[in-house]
Amino acid sequence: MKLAMIVAMDEEGCIGRQGDLPWRLKSDMSRFKSLTEADGFNAVIMGRKTWDSLPDAYRPLPERVNIVMSRDIDWSHPEAEAALYQGRAIEIAYAEACDECWVIGGAQIYEMFLDRVEEIHVTTVHTTNSGDIKFPEWNRGEWTESVIETLQADSDNEFSTTYSIWTKS
Ligand SMILES: NC(=O)c1ccc[n+]([C@@H]2O[C@H](COP(=O)([O-])OP(=O)(O)OC[C@H]3O[C@@H](n4cnc5c(N)ncnc54)[C@H](OP(=O)(O)O)[C@@H]3O)[C@@H](O)[C@H]2O)c1
Repeated sequence: MKLAMIVAMDEEGCIGRQGDLPWRLKSDMSRFKSLTEADGFNAVIMGRKTWDSLPDAYRPLPERVNIVMSRDIDWSHPEAEAALYQGRAIEIAYAEACDECWVIGGAQIYEMFLDRVEEIHVTTVHTTNSGDIKFPEWNRGEWTESVIETLQADSDNEFSTTYSIWTKS
């Protein structure tokens, strides 16, 4: 099973503002959907705060096993799998026979999985000072970047963006 991470961050590493995404980027949302759904049967791992931030229409994220990390032993949702610790989250994805498992945030969950994933899919949003939640410090020198595409801002995408895939060097 492939274990990968996907994140959108501004040029200073900011990923969130007041519990939500700081921007409106339709193209990035479409890419997120097609990558994490892909053709197979995939899981997404997220923190409880990211789960709470999803709009009702996208909770659970359709066509994917939704694994939600919480330290609250009473947390549950009929359409999600709860995981109290990292190993449990991975175990659920294996038990569901997933082809790919995507770590989708937020900051606390990214930090926990940074040394476990084999790929990080980064959308760099070309702006700064976007909010209060940052992607954890990571040593980019240990990773190799392949730039896939740059998209310009337009009526559906507030900022220009660059999409890259980082793999362990
Ligand atoms: N730009 C992006 O790509 C992107 C992606 C995702 C999210 N975001 C943004 O990121 C922000 C949320 O990030 P966040 O860091 O505040 O929260 P988070 O990582 O989504 O969730 C944090 C929660 O995860 C649970 N947790 C953390 N460590 C754990 C552990 N070791 N074991 C079990 N459970 C654990 C805890 O839940 P309990 O409190 O229930 O115990 C904790 O409160 C939002 O603004 C969201 O919009 C941005």
